[in-house]
Amino acid sequence: MVHGVRQGRSLTAQLPLVDAALRPGVQALAFHALRWLGLAEAVRGRLAARVPASRTDALLCTALSLLVADGPPSYAPFTLVDQAVEAAKRDAATRAGAPLLNACLRRCLREREALLGGLAEADPVARWSHPRWWIERLRADHPEAWRDVLAAAQQPAPLVLRVNAQRASAPAYVQRLAAAGIEAVALGAQAVRLAQPRPVQALPGFEAGDVSVQSAAAQMAAPLLLGELDAAAPRILDACAAPGGKTAHLLELSPQARVTALEIDPERSPRIADNLARLALSAEVRVADAADPGAWRRGGEALYDAILLDAPCSASGIVRRHPDVRWLRRPGDIAQLAARQDRLLAALWPLLAPGGRLLYCTCSVFRTEGAERIQAFVAHNSDAVPKAAPGHLLPGRDGGGPGLGDNGGCDDGFFYALLEKRPA
Ligand SMILES: C[S@@+](CC[C@H](N)C(=O)[O-])C[C@H]1O[C@@H](n2cnc3c(N)ncnc32)[C@H](O)[C@@H]1O
Repeated sequence: MVHGVRQGRSLTAQLPLVDAALRPGVQALAFHALRWLGLAEAVRGRLAARVPASRTDALLCTALSLLVADGPPSYAPFTLVDQAVEAAKRDAATRAGAPLLNACLRRCLREREALLGGLAEADPVARWSHPRWWIERLRADHPEAWRDVLAAAQQPAPLVLRVNAQRASAPAYVQRLAAAGIEAVALGAQAVRLAQPRPVQALPGFEAGDVSVQSAAAQMAAPLLLGELDAAAPRILDACAAPGGKTAHLLELSPQARVTALEIDPERSPRIADNLARLALSAEVRVADAADPGAWRRGGEALYDAILLDAPCSASGIVRRHPDVRWLRRPGDIAQLAARQDRLLAALWPLLAPGGRLLYCTCSVFRTEGAERIQAFVAHNSDAVPKAAPGHLLPGRDGGGPGLGDNGGCDDGFFYALLEKRPA
């Protein structure tokens, strides 16, 4: 998995190729290795004069991540070394590297404290296990909070549920979980955080659509957009909709809404209908580029009362759930994503009715994909009036508010801006 990520393949692409029975274990191992890859590489730098061949190095760094940072998963150190060396011997691509792997890991067992000594102070990549450019950008964007955000990224994310507002409240569902022996807390009207992650199929009422998985930070979108919309059956455009989490939340809160869910990716778009079907909700799904309304708008269609633009972004706010993202992104990606975000904002704004609201959000912690996009947009669109919205939400910092985590800050990093269209 580490080798694949270094080659540019995401875990989302790699994990489905693993035998289903082995997948949970492989995922836990890959998550841990990628979460601590910066530290593991720095230790490897002290153990080996040269970087080993790529697959051997991936195996070495995976094993080192378990020796230098506590899991899960947890293995007895000698078992771990034996198994890593055995794995190297079994694969033709790593067999020649097995003696080096063995020597490095055994030395790490003997000299762990000395190898780690001074490493964090000397090298921010080892200290935070994120790429240098990422750390520098975060530090410039959030001079007070950057350390907390990076520290939070090293912790596994909690499992948070959204209780279907048509069926129950968060406190009522917490009681239902308690009756089933599952510990959880309500974070707001609809969000519930489980004490321990578990397979969703084992949750009461999941198959029946009583709950869905959605981070607490993502659950802020639908209530913010709906706000005090006064139309009885508002026309809503969800412009970047797959897999449909926020589409479903909008419909749970506003069942009369007429929602159009757009998605550019034909492979992802069926997931919108699948998710809505489990919840017995419906929306019109169109597969199209939201930035090109001429291609998907039908003649005579009315303007929208509300638009949700959950724009494609770096996903830098959800690295706890996707620890590969930090190693997959390149510094130049951020400016390219910002240009896409600008195109989407510019194309969608004319589709909003006067007095209507557009909610722009990204699961990014970088200001280029958040506050800076909205400042630039408002500077060029005098009919765009910013309304109260959370702005940048940072994991490890922004806790305690309604719908957010009550300790350790919010669960994911997000940016929210709400714009109202001034009537002409
Ligand atoms: C952040 S995800 C959306 C998550 C979704 N709103 C939810 O809550 O489940 C962004 C989605 O936008 C889609 N997308 C990217 N560019 C787009 C475009 N130009 N038009 C429509 N969809 C686009 C991506 O394929 C991706 O599925």
